[in-house]
Amino acid sequence: MSQSFDLIVIGAGPGGYIAAIRAAQLGFSVACVDAWCNAKGGPAPGGTCTNVGCIPSKALLQSSEHFEQAGQHFADHGIGVAGLSLDLPTMMGRKDSVVKQNNEGILFLFKKNKVSFFHARASFAKALDGAYEIALAPMSAGAPAQVLIGKQVIVASGSSPRALAGTPFDEDKILSNEGALALTKLPKRLGLIGSGVIGLEMGSVWRRLGASVTVLEGLPSFLGGVDQQIAKEAKKAFDKQGLKIELGVQVGAISATAKGVDVAYLTAQGESKTLAVDKLIVSIGRVPNTQGLNAATVGLALDERGAIVVDADCRTNLPGVWAVGDVVRGPMLAHKAEEEGVAVAERMAGQHGHVDFNTVPWVIYTNPEIAWVGQTEEQLKAAGRAFKAGTFPFLANGRARALGDTTGMVKMLSDAVSDEILGVHIVGPMASELIAECVVAMSFRASSEDLARICHAHPSLGEAIKEAALAVDKRTLNF
Ligand code: FAD
Ligand code: NAI
Repeated sequence: MSQSFDLIVIGAGPGGYIAAIRAAQLGFSVACVDAWCNAKGGPAPGGTCTNVGCIPSKALLQSSEHFEQAGQHFADHGIGVAGLSLDLPTMMGRKDSVVKQNNEGILFLFKKNKVSFFHARASFAKALDGAYEIALAPMSAGAPAQVLIGKQVIVASGSSPRALAGTPFDEDKILSNEGALALTKLPKRLGLIGSGVIGLEMGSVWRRLGASVTVLEGLPSFLGGVDQQIAKEAKKAFDKQGLKIELGVQVGAISATAKGVDVAYLTAQGESKTLAVDKLIVSIGRVPNTQGLNAATVGLALDERGAIVVDADCRTNLPGVWAVGDVVRGPMLAHKAEEEGVAVAERMAGQHGHVDFNTVPWVIYTNPEIAWVGQTEEQLKAAGRAFKAGTFPFLANGRARALGDTTGMVKMLSDAVSDEILGVHIVGPMASELIAECVVAMSFRASSEDLARICHAHPSLGEAIKEAALAVDKRTLNF
């Protein structure tokens, strides 16, 4: 016998589980189906983000940062550390337990909000009159297959790592994000293909722990989508740390050797080289998860990348079917997926859920951190928009000096006439936290003068935001 719900959510990543909770809060009966299995084969809701993405990567970034601080920077504070050592199994165990706490937290939230959770793989079976039949293939052996009926469906099936053509991931020598987060031994020589967000975060983790890391990037510019003044500042810091990044390369044959992997490539200057490494992480972007959904059975439209086609409100071509998160257009970010999930649940309830794509922040959790919201200088120039710019270096910020971390700057861009803030770009300490103020300011369509006139605590890194706002009007006080 099939169970019926107002809403069936496929996927319990940040897009799906948040949509399910919000819909339940709004009074809908909700089922959420997720296929992710933990090491014991049990349910592990939270998707890529919780299991092999945001959460474990941030846990390892934190641990490796402590290791590097203790080894290289504590001495500046007069703290001696004798016999510093790396216990990788404990570090990995801590990361795993952080992930588990998050999995359990989501199961708890489902119970609290009366969301029915199914540990199964879901696919469209057929369209009924005003509803959809969703087939569930259970993840645990022996459990019976089930059918659910939903008046509405939200697809939040996420994304998977893109492999290089002809080089599948084996998660032993050729690693995706999954293998990169689960190494049991420190590789002496680590190679990465792609100096995007994963390349820089994972490269940083393993470099800090002692690996010699080389990143091969296809594009000639570093972090092409980031404001280039900020990207250049970040690149200087990474070069100083010993993270080797080669730009403009053309990756050729990849072959497994007795010791690891050989990567043949052409440098930007056309020279043939081979990079010999113990492990290779391939981080060249992600592809939407639409295989196995049986989209064609119900006529759900996909684009040429395999992403589900949606309008600005996350409506698909089918009545009552919505899609959110990595499986649709837009940035592949957990908080973007969450915002879309909430907005869809609210639209289903006749409310006016809204996502402002112009104020979705980005953060790269390296050291220094890189964070931004809104448009870059390059984008404004390309659009022919007249703007004013102000920058303020952390070198001139008292808190940054006290922390011993003065790398980087805040850069603010505002409209030349109205002074409305159009973008804020930060490279430096705690950029991930500092950007929140700028997101709020832009959401309220603040001007740089608004931020310049707001009292910021002293000494704080936030004062660098205020000073960058003052810099837009060429009247910094501390620089
Ligand atoms: P997902 O999180 O991918 O969840 C989809 C879920 O659906 C999965 O559990 C999957 O098993 C399930 N599923 C798929 N198909 C089916 C099916 N047919 N039936 C049942 N279940 C199904 N973003 C940030 O904002 N900040 C970060 O710091 C960050 N760090 C990252 C680090 C790494 C290494 C990676 C890889 C990604 C990171 N991201 C980060 C991106 C972030 O993880 C994704 O944007 C986010 O997880 C997308 O959420 P989602 O709900 O759309 O999909
Ligand atoms: P990415 O899109 O950030 O970077 C991929 C890089 O690989 C690009 O610089 C690209 O030019 C390069 N590339 C592509 N093909 C190549 C090739 N054949 N040879 C050499 N270089 C090549 O993708 P990444 O790092 O895989 O991450 C995927 C997504 O996951 C990110 O875009 C982001 O949305 C999300 N993510 C977010 C994080 C965060 O918010 N802190 C952390 C990690 C991932």
